Amino acid sequence: MLRIKVQNKYYLKCTECGHVTPNFWTWFEQGQKCPECGSKRSEVWYNRRYKRLLRMFKGKPDSFWHYFPFLPLLRRRHIISKGEGAIPVERWTFLEEFAKKKYGLNIEVNVYRNDLNGGTGTFKDVGASLAASLFNEIGIKQYCIASTGNSATAYAKYLSEAKVNCSVFMPEDAVKTSEATINSYGQQVFKVMGDYAKAKEIAAGYAQMHNIPMSTGNVDPIRVEAKKTMVFEWLRQIGKMPDVYIQAVSGGTGPIAIDKGIRELKGVLPELKNPRFVLVQTDKCDPMVQAWEKAEAGGFPEGFEKDYPIIDNPRTEVPTLATGNPATYPILAGLVKDSGGTFIRIREKKLLPVGKLVAYEQKVVPGPASAVCLAGFFEALQKNLIKNGETVMLNTGEGPNRAPYFLEQMIYTTREVNNVEECEPHSLEDYRNILWAEALK
Ligand SMILES: Cc1ncc(COP(=O)(O)O)c(C=O)c1O
Ligand SMILES: [Zn+2]
Repeated sequence: MLRIKVQNKYYLKCTECGHVTPNFWTWFEQGQKCPECGSKRSEVWYNRRYKRLLRMFKGKPDSFWHYFPFLPLLRRRHIISKGEGAIPVERWTFLEEFAKKKYGLNIEVNVYRNDLNGGTGTFKDVGASLAASLFNEIGIKQYCIASTGNSATAYAKYLSEAKVNCSVFMPEDAVKTSEATINSYGQQVFKVMGDYAKAKEIAAGYAQMHNIPMSTGNVDPIRVEAKKTMVFEWLRQIGKMPDVYIQAVSGGTGPIAIDKGIRELKGVLPELKNPRFVLVQTDKCDPMVQAWEKAEAGGFPEGFEKDYPIIDNPRTEVPTLATGNPATYPILAGLVKDSGGTFIRIREKKLLPVGKLVAYEQKVVPGPASAVCLAGFFEALQKNLIKNGETVMLNTGEGPNRAPYFLEQMIYTTREVNNVEECEPHSLEDYRNILWAEALK
């Protein structure tokens, strides 16, 4: 823990009124919000020369802490890291070949493999690493979070490492393995009888009652700062920004953070711009897609971004994405519109066929939320959202160990046998044809 509060490395600035908060000690003292206007959205800015950042887009870092000078931590000794971020961007040529064969498009398809994060193998590890390190530095000992699973698992693990008590509020339909994992670290789980919105509500009450800081969700400057390093990593690994970015969206920290990263680089790379954001939801929980379709049909009337539905108790097989009340839609809708992107829907029925196909072709088994992103790629092609010559980035968030029930449903070659006569050699190629046919049906 560090006691000095006067520092020059960074400051927070309210996106609504411009009020400056000098550091994270003060940010938490004032309840993680702007004391002037009450907004929870402040952004971190650095008193640094960005030429230095450009020189960092090389080498082989082992985590996103490579970008320490541009992260809001004062002392390296407070870092808690498990080798997260700085994960590989892979070219998936089977998807490129498909786009060429079926649509005549020459495109480059990159996949940002969050399942390879060292902490818990999801999207959420970088944010949790920065949070744990920062709490270590400023001396926070209690924290609480409402989460559908992946965030809570990551925070539970990293905060345990930092010896910070973390109370986790999960909706009743959260994945059992996440619940078990969080328990196993000794962190407290409160299973809320209700949906994610209810879990957030009870967590907020608990935070207030015990004066414990709570994760402020998708605009939390800690999460945004960690995730903005995606932009730095793409510049390091492929030397450019993609033209199209595809992600399964729940609350949308991903696009918010990309936009922040791009703005941070404006001074040194003025030509850099956001990719077209193609954000994917499933037909079982698609409030943002519904809102977008309505806005589009009405020609994007003034204030369209404030008009969105709330889905109570969404019934979905992808609890990670079960945000029925999309409070960040006003921010995301603006970003998506300005980028020339869109929100698209995929059918939940598609997830298994797509998951099986990707596992077969790429030998990478996706978790359900990653399958949503991958199914979104096929849908985007079909909707003509990707143009010839473009570079696509698929941000896949998790592997299958997050959701064993999903993996188990991928069993398709097994045959039950009683004697040797029933066993015959198979042909891999036959399975390929079946899998493609199923995925494209
Ligand atoms: C694997 C995975 N994909 C996608 C998402 C959605 O992330 P975002 O907060 O950017 O909407 C999450 C988080 O909930 C996730 O864990
Ligand atoms: Zn303000």
